Parts: sequence; structure tokens; C-alpha cells
Amino acid sequence: MNMQTAHRAAKHTADATTVEEGLAIQERQAVMDSDAATAVAMQNTLLTPRFYTTDFDALDAVDVSSVRRDWDELLAEMERDPNKGHFKKNADWDDVDWDGMEPELRKEFIDFLISSCTAEFSGCVLYKEMKRRGSNADITQLFAYMSRDEARHAGFINDALREAGIAVNLGFLTKAKKYTYFQPKFIYYATYLSEKIGYARYITIFRHLEAHPEHRFHPIFKWFKEWCNDEFRHGEAFALLMKTDPKLTSGRNVLWIKFFLTAVYSTMWVRDHQRPAFHEALGVDTTWYGQEVFRKTSEISRQVFPIVLDIDHPRWRPNLDRLERASRKIDAAKKAGGIGGFVGRMAGMAQATAAFVALFTIPAVRNAVPAQTRLEPAY
Ligand SMILES: [Fe+2]
Ligand SMILES: [Fe+2]
Repeated sequence: MNMQTAHRAAKHTADATTVEEGLAIQERQAVMDSDAATAVAMQNTLLTPRFYTTDFDALDAVDVSSVRRDWDELLAEMERDPNKGHFKKNADWDDVDWDGMEPELRKEFIDFLISSCTAEFSGCVLYKEMKRRGSNADITQLFAYMSRDEARHAGFINDALREAGIAVNLGFLTKAKKYTYFQPKFIYYATYLSEKIGYARYITIFRHLEAHPEHRFHPIFKWFKEWCNDEFRHGEAFALLMKTDPKLTSGRNVLWIKFFLTAVYSTMWVRDHQRPAFHEALGVDTTWYGQEVFRKTSEISRQVFPIVLDIDHPRWRPNLDRLERASRKIDAAKKAGGIGGFVGRMAGMAQATAAFVALFTIPAVRNAVPAQTRLEPAY
């Protein structure tokens, strides 16, 4: 009984009076936090990273002979594996004062790590499945290298989370998370963009912290440069895959490309604006950061997409902000519940839809796709 009371009273190991109690608190914390983290990773909303499945046979049937030279060069680079051994803690990994971290920052940063880990792992699962199911050596080799990289990335983020007593249960996610089916062309658009925007995000943060090291509040940012080169290469692979079939980037599909560009950009905008403390700690203006990442991603995507979004159009920013306000409204209404909550949610969803339509209908800028696809990371 005394032990029971003591268990209930002590919430932190610093307050524990026996070794058993101290250990029990840690165990309980680890289980609780990891469950919570996995629950966050399990969420399937418009804003959270999803798991995908596709028509693996169709993907396996892709013939890369029209891009053979670039393809072989890219795969040789992946085979050389320049980042082998990179994603582990070393002497550059400074101590992290998780307990001393400002609570709001800690919450947002953990949310950032969990969602990044889920996104990395989502790529890992999809690529690994393609590698397993395919018989076309070009395709299975590519997906073997890419899934190798994503597993390292997810593992490294999990290392960082573990220091805060948290781990995303990747085995559980594989089995339990809902998979969204996308036909191969949608996988190309979505994955190409997520790899390239991932590169643009990581390199923008890395360059900013290079100039302002006093804002580097966690060591993981030191790894972002080599990290984003992996993502860049992955994006190159999808650019080449799209190049094998001109239909994928012409005709009606141009509208699909515009849809994916708008959806990916606006999702990032809304999510990032939900993490004000995180961006403040980095010394980054979220709005500047968003536009900067869009600009880099658009510039890169000229390698294969026949359009780029007009992110300087007078309707662009105001409607991103409207979308963000609508998303806050939906969140608040969900929390409120009841009839009022339902009405608020419907109103929020109508506003979000109107804002998205206003963004989607901004005339795109035409782009003449170059004959030469391959790019090198330039930022
Ligand atoms: Fe990755
Ligand atoms: Fe990647």
C-alpha cells in the first residue's frame, strides 16, 4: 500500500525514493510516451504522413532503356553508398537538455520528429515492398537502395526520440497503419515531390543554421546536409521514371501535377504554421521559410514538370493563410465536440475547400522541360 501510494505520488525519477520506484517510473514513461508517439504516427488526416500501396506489377513493368545512361549513373552513385555509416551519433552529437527545453518547443519539436520519422518510414515501407515484389532488376535495385536509405533515416530520428524517452513503434505501424492505394502515376507525382521538397526543407534549415549556429538547439540538424543529398537522389530516380513515359507529364495529367503541387505545398504551409515555437527557436520566419522551400522545389521540378505554380500571384499567400485559419477552426471544433463542434467543423471545411479551390485555380506558369533531366544538388 505504501509502495502504491509512493508510485502514485512520484512522477519524476528525481522524486523516487527507491531504485524499484525509479525504474518503474522510467518504464511507465517509456511505454506511455511510445504509445502516444505511435498513436500520433498512426493518425490519418489530410495533414499527417500516410502509408501508400500501389500497382506493383505495373511499376515492375517500367522499361528504363530510354533514360539508360542517366539511370545507370544514378544507380552507380547509390551503389557507392556515400552515406554509409553517416546516420549514427558521434562526437558531433551534443548533449540534448530535453528537460530544460521550453515545454511548447519540446512538444512541437517532438511532433516534428514523429511526423518526420513517419514520413521516412512511409517511404521505407513502400520502397521495400516494391523491391520484394518486383522481378525487373532495374526497378528492384533502385527500390532496394532507396528503402535502405529511408530505414536509416527513420532509425536515426528514432535514436533522437529515444533520448527523450520516446520511440515510434515501426513494426506496429507496418502492420496496423492504414495504407492508401495510389496508382503508379500518383505515386510518381506525390513521391517525387515529397523527396524534392524534403531536400529543399532540409537544405534550407541546414544553410540557415550554418549562418546562425546559435539557433541550432538540437544536434540532428548537423546531419541534414548529407541527409538531403539522399532525398535529392531519390527524387532524381522518380524524375527519370516519369521521363520514361511522356504521357505522364502531358495532356490531362498536367492538371494532376498541378493538383499534387498545390496539395503538397499547402499541406506543408499549414503544418509548419502550427509549429510557431519550433520555428522561433530556429530563428526562422515560417512564412519566409515556406516560400523559400516552394521556390527551390519549383526550380528543381522544372527538370520534369511542364508547369510551376505561381507562388508570387496575389491570390497565393492570402489563400494559404485562409487555409491555415480554416484548419485551426476545424481542429478547435473537433476538440469542442457536440452540435456546436459539428457546425464549426462543417464551416471550417467549407472555408478550407474554398481556399484550396482559389489556390488551385491560380494560372500556372508554363515550363519548357529540358532534354537533359539529371540535376545535382545546388543549394
Ligand atoms: Fe529519407
Ligand atoms: Fe527519400
